[in-house]
Amino acid sequence: MRALTVEPLKPGTARIEDVPDPVAGPGEMLVEGLALGVCGTDREIAAGEYGWAPPGRDRLVLGHESLGRVRTAPADSSFAPGDLVVGVVRRPDPEPCGACAHGEFDMCRNGRYTERGIKEIDGYGSELWTVETGYAVKLDPRLADVGMLMEPMSVVAKAWEQIEKVGARSWFEPKRVLVTGAGPIGLLAALLGAQRGLEVHVLDLATEGPKPEAVEALGARYHSSGMREVTARIEPDVIVEATGVSSLVFEAMAGTASYGIVCLTGVSAAGRRISVDLGAANRDMVLENDVVVGSVNANLSHYAAAAAALAEADHDWLSRLITRRLPLDRFAEALEAGPHDIKVVLDIPQ
Ligand code: BGC
Repeated sequence: MRALTVEPLKPGTARIEDVPDPVAGPGEMLVEGLALGVCGTDREIAAGEYGWAPPGRDRLVLGHESLGRVRTAPADSSFAPGDLVVGVVRRPDPEPCGACAHGEFDMCRNGRYTERGIKEIDGYGSELWTVETGYAVKLDPRLADVGMLMEPMSVVAKAWEQIEKVGARSWFEPKRVLVTGAGPIGLLAALLGAQRGLEVHVLDLATEGPKPEAVEALGARYHSSGMREVTARIEPDVIVEATGVSSLVFEAMAGTASYGIVCLTGVSAAGRRISVDLGAANRDMVLENDVVVGSVNANLSHYAAAAAALAEADHDWLSRLITRRLPLDRFAEALEAGPHDIKVVLDIPQ
């Protein structure tokens, strides 16, 4: 079968190659790959900046935003041939640490977790893949064209869970959320804010194109002016930061209302220095009981929450997020971010 592979930490090594068909082991399903979402992490891996090959190998099958159709499933499982499924990204560390032992592998303490298509285990960018039934999630068949949004949705479902858990330490009835960055994570975070009945604001640099349109279609407000001016005007109770841009991260910390929560979801490039008044930020955070929380990845409970959120969402709105679809062999184009891209999807021809 054909697979999209890369040699991690070596830029420009992504290619389609013929690899042996996978064989489902005990407790595993064989799945026909339908589509793959492409995200910033895939672009970083392809650029040689991130990623780990499986032990003893040079190349890794890329892809963690999966969508596939079950070909074979164990008879005693809750899956059947034809089911639409998504594979979970992370697996617990081998030790396992306390968090992994409790199924909270998204909170792994020792960093020895593995991730399909990212860290030491092959991803889902192939015509066929196998997955353990315990690490697969069944999707509503109506989501066949947008189901690869499940993985980013799971990441956002976890971020909102974190915000709610942090908020629950005292009285918490948030009214306004500001999302910075109108990429897939930002827009899905905005969707979950709208599903919670909040007044949703989204800030991004784009002044036209699909991003402002998607925000407006959600009934949310779009801003492309400066962060400080926007936070001063709307005083958000919650900020979901989805750009990883250092200046925005810092301005988010300083820009919430009292008892504000900033949830950081963007992985920034290291090495860019900005000069900030940390003393003023500290004073503001202490005097307002503010919290900044980082959030990454998702465990099975977040996938379940994501499946429910996708089922509740307007299908046409979800489709708007997919701004380019290309066949797998045009992966190189997909790995280049276009100016108006939200989500780029690679279709895996059958
Ligand atoms: C993925 C996460 C993963 C993270 C770090 C993200 O792109 O969505 O599942 O944990 O990268 O590797």
